[in-house]
Amino acid sequence: MKDPDSDFGRPMPPAAHQDGAVATLDRGATDRTRAASGEAGQRTDVGVASSGARGRAMRISVFGIGYVGAVTAACLCRDGHSVVAVDPNDVKVNEVNDGLAPIGEPGLGDLVATAVASGRLSATRDAAAAVAATDLSIVCVGTPSNPNGSLDTRYVARVAEEIGAAVAGKPGHIVVIRSTMLPGTMRDLVIPTLERTSGGIAGKDFGVAYYPEFLRESTAILDYDDPGTIVFGAIDERTVTALSGLVAHLGVKPIVVDIDTAEMIKYVNNAWHAAKISFANEIGNICKGVGVDGHTVMNVLCQDTRLNISRAYLTPGFAFGGSCLPKDLRALRYKARTIDVATPMLNSALFANEIQLERAFQMVAATGARRVGFLGLSFKANTDDLRESPLVELAEKLLGKGYSLKIYDPSVSYSELTGANLQYVMSHVPHLSRLLVDTIEEMCVDAEAVVIGKKDPGIARLVKRLRGATPIIDLVRIDAEQRSNGAYTGICW
Ligand SMILES: NC(=O)c1ccc[n+]([C@@H]2O[C@H](COP(=O)([O-])OP(=O)(O)OC[C@H]3O[C@@H](n4cnc5c(N)ncnc54)[C@H](O)[C@@H]3O)[C@@H](O)[C@H]2O)c1
Repeated sequence: MKDPDSDFGRPMPPAAHQDGAVATLDRGATDRTRAASGEAGQRTDVGVASSGARGRAMRISVFGIGYVGAVTAACLCRDGHSVVAVDPNDVKVNEVNDGLAPIGEPGLGDLVATAVASGRLSATRDAAAAVAATDLSIVCVGTPSNPNGSLDTRYVARVAEEIGAAVAGKPGHIVVIRSTMLPGTMRDLVIPTLERTSGGIAGKDFGVAYYPEFLRESTAILDYDDPGTIVFGAIDERTVTALSGLVAHLGVKPIVVDIDTAEMIKYVNNAWHAAKISFANEIGNICKGVGVDGHTVMNVLCQDTRLNISRAYLTPGFAFGGSCLPKDLRALRYKARTIDVATPMLNSALFANEIQLERAFQMVAATGARRVGFLGLSFKANTDDLRESPLVELAEKLLGKGYSLKIYDPSVSYSELTGANLQYVMSHVPHLSRLLVDTIEEMCVDAEAVVIGKKDPGIARLVKRLRGATPIIDLVRIDAEQRSNGAYTGICW
């Protein structure tokens, strides 16, 4: 069905495809900066849902009349669009056509009844007819677990075949997937299936996007109208424009990323929520055991929006350390043990930290180098505190395995180390005085690999000088744009 005249606008900038970089396409540089700095998704005004058209009314087919599809279809109709809902399940199709909600969700019955009565909502089993009658298809079919925990993508694959076949005679159609799918599912399954069955090219002959759904059952309509973020993973501008039109009234600026990133964001959201719940429960259990009210504790914790409920500590990188976190986690865990409270989350936090340290060690080992330049030693920048610094532990491990190190840390002067700090480092890296050097240049002399454990003003110069020739292990992401490539390896980028 290739149609050389069909125009999906400029393809997305390559950076947005490959880097997961936040791009906002048709918005200005200010918005781009804002999005990249994490402010994207902020409210521009308060979206108030009501009936009546919003922006350009579209004709939309929604595939899957389950919890997500039914709410999506009903809200789109309420917002002035017309929707054909598609599902192989006769019962659901009949219910919708009778003006009844096919699932239990507060407020949904009224929306469906109004939408059907107005003629804006109908349901069918006929995928081809639904695609033919609409401009944009939104896929909300289930992606359940297989018995081994892997993702069952058969419904997504089937629906992609159906839509692809229907799109074959219909250039310009837009296909948007909202089902939760692992990164790479669009790239390796959905897009190839759509291209194979339609004979067209994604982003050129038909639009395609991944638009993760974050709604929660029981508050699904409220969540639809008041989303925390809106994320589009897209490869063509026209699709982004169409999707932006559907959500413009919500007052939340969509964040546009590449498709794999959008798929991943959905999982990370859910993993984060699950981790929060288990953490809160575990703290509650310990609190009860020590006679403290856990709700009060967590309530106070949440009131610190600088360090606790914030971006702080949420940047992927190297292990934590220092004189407080490891010690205090161990003490809390020990106390819990004495009162028979299990602490799998705290145990995992400590275990995960060891894994991150081991990961850094393995990265150095993989270079094959034996002489290593080591930038940074104290547990974070601008302190000479070496106690439980993960960089000291990494250095100790490397030395123990016979590596020779030259260590540079502008915050650490051997002659000024005293007390517990000196004691700690003497017990872990006894020959430190012989290993410390005064400049980055000295650190690099004879180095067969360089470990960057700290951001330093001289680092950019160093990296430029070494680029390509000497392996670099970066634990701090000295350059936000850089990904592991050639001689450069980032610990988790
Ligand atoms: N339920 C939630 O709260 C929620 C929230 C966010 C994201 N999600 C994700 O959204 C997706 C849908 O979840 P759900 O809870 O709505 O699922 P669901 O099981 O309630 O509904 C899925 C529907 O898809 C239909 N279907 C299957 N094959 C089809 C086909 N070829 N064409 C048309 N329809 C077809 C099924 O008959 C079913 O009615 C899943 O990937 C889920 O992980 C769910």
